[in-house]
Amino acid sequence: MPPRTRAPKKSANRTVSPGEATESGALRRAVQHLWPELEWIENRDLGEKVTSTWVRAFELSPLTPDDLNRIPFTLLVPNCPATFMEHKRCVVHIARRSAEAMREFLGRGLKIDIDTVIAGAILADVGKLLEYEVVDGKARQSPRGEFLRHPFTGVALAMECGVPEAVCHIIAAHAAEGDLVKRTTEAIIVHHADFMSYLPFRK
Ligand SMILES: [Fe+2]
Repeated sequence: MPPRTRAPKKSANRTVSPGEATESGALRRAVQHLWPELEWIENRDLGEKVTSTWVRAFELSPLTPDDLNRIPFTLLVPNCPATFMEHKRCVVHIARRSAEAMREFLGRGLKIDIDTVIAGAILADVGKLLEYEVVDGKARQSPRGEFLRHPFTGVALAMECGVPEAVCHIIAAHAAEGDLVKRTTEAIIVHHADFMSYLPFRK
């Protein structure tokens, strides 16, 4: 499928047509369907911003919500048997349970913000919507993705939607690029959740 052309940016001063509003509402519902875990975020404002980031990513992406239930979560594993959504949801579940266990046993000396962990895990790979494209039914890295891996495009999308810096930090630092920075506790949790559900496929 050829990449879709960039959707016009919605500014506060521009009137949104009924057609655009319907499309945006459909995308929002599709995102909520893909991500039941959005309900876990207790801070409603943060949950809205995380949802908006995914909606914005789909507006700019050649991929559709359905593609995420078909394409592999990584291009680094030949014939990877796990889909994008299977992997990403698993990471969110591992990250949340890990954060809760750490808070239960280590919380006296270690502050952990569970909302930040969940939001960061849900958004960690949102930039892949700008890194991948589907051609002849197969996912591959797009020309844009060769210049900008998903930690970078993910942060750009999240900042555009007003996502707090502590969550943007998780997106930025969840992959190997993050080895160069000092990760927060929440970012360490998401990083390890991501890698423990990725490395076994690289055997
Ligand atoms: Fe990633």
